[in-house]
Amino acid sequence: MRLILVGPPGAGKGTQANHLVRAHHLAHISTGEMLRSAIARRTELGIAAESYMKRGDLVADEMVINMLFERIKNPDCEKGFLLDGFPRTRAQAVVLNDMLKSKNIAIDAVIVLDVPDSMIVERITGRRHDPKTGITYHLTFNPPPTSVRDRLEQRDDDTKEACEARLHKYHSETELVIPFYEEQKLVHRINAVGTPDEIEKRIINAVFK
Ligand code: AP5
Repeated sequence: MRLILVGPPGAGKGTQANHLVRAHHLAHISTGEMLRSAIARRTELGIAAESYMKRGDLVADEMVINMLFERIKNPDCEKGFLLDGFPRTRAQAVVLNDMLKSKNIAIDAVIVLDVPDSMIVERITGRRHDPKTGITYHLTFNPPPTSVRDRLEQRDDDTKEACEARLHKYHSETELVIPFYEEQKLVHRINAVGTPDEIEKRIINAVFK
């Protein structure tokens, strides 16, 4: 199965992706994670992407497309994958479509997580990451145990200002990919307000049954 997960920052894409890929044995391809890893390793791509990400802007299409295409060649993608955070512009959607078509591969479903803007800043600014275990918490909605609190980290782009810029980019650019996939009758809109378990059940009912 080949899935695309779309949603505003903090919609819960990463949270839902982690469950879905485990349950359905899919490769999890998060372009955001790949870029953060490139920044941490100080690669040419990471250095070029860093300032865009920090201010909540999109990284240039060409850079992200090349990175994604290299990743999708990996053998772990042969049995299926979940794209988390790609495509984010209509140009990315068109290029992905052409590339998959040339390989006789089709996307099975595009899952759009709908969350009102008013909830986004709280979800983003409360997010914390445990560098030791890789677990993502939320200070209010999924509080970390006291034993790990001191080592938790916050993403550079999880400030209120960067979050607002990311949300603006979502509405001005990324939402334009939804009609592209609606024309192909692939879109499932999911109400992403509720507990992560409730949202996962909605996705399973919409896409896997
Ligand atoms: P990326 O890493 O993809 O960030 P994003 O899309 O902004 O999404 P987030 O990771 O912030 O949120 P999420 O939806 O995964 O939510 P999460 O599950 O963590 O991209 C970062 C940057 O990289 C972009 O801004 C751009 O610069 C660049 N980039 C990436 N891809 C690109 C591309 N294709 N083209 C160009 N540039 C690209 O949840 C958030 C918090 O809420 C967590 O604390 C979680 O615990 C909590 N939470 C989750 N679900 C719930 C719930 N149901 N109720 C309450 N709290 C919840």
